[in-house]
Amino acid sequence: LKMPRDVLSLKDLEAHCLASMDPMVRDYLYDGAEEGRTIRENLEVWDRWLVVPRMMRDTSTVNLAPVTPLLNLPWRLPFGIGPSAMQRLAHSAGEAATAAAANSSGVPFALSTFSNSSMENVKSVGGESAAFLQIYLVSGGRELNVELLQRAEGVYIFSYFFVAASIYQVLRSGQANRVNRFIAAGYKAVVLTVDSPVPGNRPGLIKSNFVMPRYLRLGNFSEDFRGPLDQSASNPDTSTTALTDTITNENSNGRGENSNNSGSGKQILVDPSVNWERDMPWLQEHTYLEIWVKGVLHPLDAEAAIAHGARGIIVSNHGGRQLDGCISALDALPGIVKAVRGRVPVHVDGGVRRGADVFTALALGADFVWIGRPVWWGLWVGGEEGVRWVLETLEREFRTVMMLMGCRSVGEISREMVVAKSRLLS
Ligand code: FNR
Repeated sequence: LKMPRDVLSLKDLEAHCLASMDPMVRDYLYDGAEEGRTIRENLEVWDRWLVVPRMMRDTSTVNLAPVTPLLNLPWRLPFGIGPSAMQRLAHSAGEAATAAAANSSGVPFALSTFSNSSMENVKSVGGESAAFLQIYLVSGGRELNVELLQRAEGVYIFSYFFVAASIYQVLRSGQANRVNRFIAAGYKAVVLTVDSPVPGNRPGLIKSNFVMPRYLRLGNFSEDFRGPLDQSASNPDTSTTALTDTITNENSNGRGENSNNSGSGKQILVDPSVNWERDMPWLQEHTYLEIWVKGVLHPLDAEAAIAHGARGIIVSNHGGRQLDGCISALDALPGIVKAVRGRVPVHVDGGVRRGADVFTALALGADFVWIGRPVWWGLWVGGEEGVRWVLETLEREFRTVMMLMGCRSVGEISREMVVAKSRLLS
C-alpha cells in the first residue's frame, strides 16, 4: 500500500481520510453523543500524563507480546481491534478485511454483532484472530441471541469440516450444549457490551437521517433485519433520500454499487431491561465461551461483573457514542484495576492513536488495549492492507517508545513510569 509521503501516523491518516471520506461514512464514524464532550475527553486525556524513562538497559531486543494470557493464544502485540459495526461502509470487504489484517498481524479481532460480514466468513479469514464476538442482548425474546451464541461456538467447524458440521447439527438438536465443548472450536469468547441499554443521543445520526444503504446487510442476521441506529426503521416517515445523494457511484476503493436505501425491515433493539442478576447467569447457561464485559466505568460494576462470572473486563465509554460527559476509560482505569486486584484481565479502549498511548494505558494497569476508529481509516484507504498499515504503524511507534523507556518486555512497564501532570504542580 502506497501511502502519501506526509502520512506517517494514525492522525495523519485520519486527516487524509477526512478529506476524502464519504460524508455519510464520516458522520457515522465520528458520531458522538450530544455535545461530543466525551469524544474530546478521550483524545485529551493522554495529555494529562507524562512518562519517566530509564536509560542504558540494553533494548537491542524488545518483546512486545502481552504478559497476561489472553484466551491462551500467542498474540504478538498488547493491542487489538475492538468491535465496530457495519465496516462495509468503509470498504467492500468490510470486517473480513479487518479480520484478515488482524490475523496476519497476530492480534485479536472482536467482531461486532452488527457487522456486515457474517461471523462465519470472518472466522474463515480471521483464523485464531477472530476470537471475540461482541453481543448485545436484544429485545423480543432471546432466540436471536441463542442462535448467535451457537453459531459462535460452532462456526469453525461449519467453515472447515463438513462432516463434523453434520455431527454438530445432530448434537445440537439434542442436549448438545456440553458435548459441543469437545468438538467445536469457533470463537473463544463473547463480549457483552453493557453500556448500551439504549443507543446514546446522537443528534448527528438523526439529522443526517442515517440509514444503512440497501446494498449492505447485517451479516449475522437474515436479510430484512435493520440495526438499532437505522433511522428508517425507527421512524418510517423520514425520507431516506438524504443519504443516497451522498454515496457516490464512484468506487475508487471498491465499495459496492450505490442504490436506494431501504425503508423497511425488522429493527433489532437492545433489551433495556438487561441486568447483572438475570442476564449473566442466562448467558452462562447458554454458552461455554468465556464471557467478557465491555463498557464498565465504575469499580463497583467491575466487582459486579466478576461476581457474575465475567472472565475479563473492558473499560470503555464506547468511543464517546453513548453517554456524553462520562469519564474517559483511561481516567476510570486505575480505580478499576485497584478494585479488580488481578482477578481477571482489565482491558481499555478509547482514543488510542499513538504507540505512546498504548504504553500509558499499560503503565496505568491495563493488561491490553483496543482500537476503534483508526481501523476505519485503514479500511477506507486500503482495505486489509490499510488496516495492516494502521497496526504496523502503531507497532513501530510502540516499539520505539518501549526502547526509549528502557523496557525490554511489556512486563517491565510499571506504574511509576508515568506521572500525572497535575501531581507535578502540587
Ligand atoms: C463502535 N463501538 C462499538 N462497540 C460495541 O461494543 N459494539 C458495536 O457494534 C460498536 N460499533 C461501533 C461503531 C463505530 C463506527 C465506532 C467508532 C465504535 C465502540 C468501539 O468498540 C470502541 O469502544 C471505541 O470505538 C473505542 O474508541 P476509539 O478507538 O474509536 O476512539
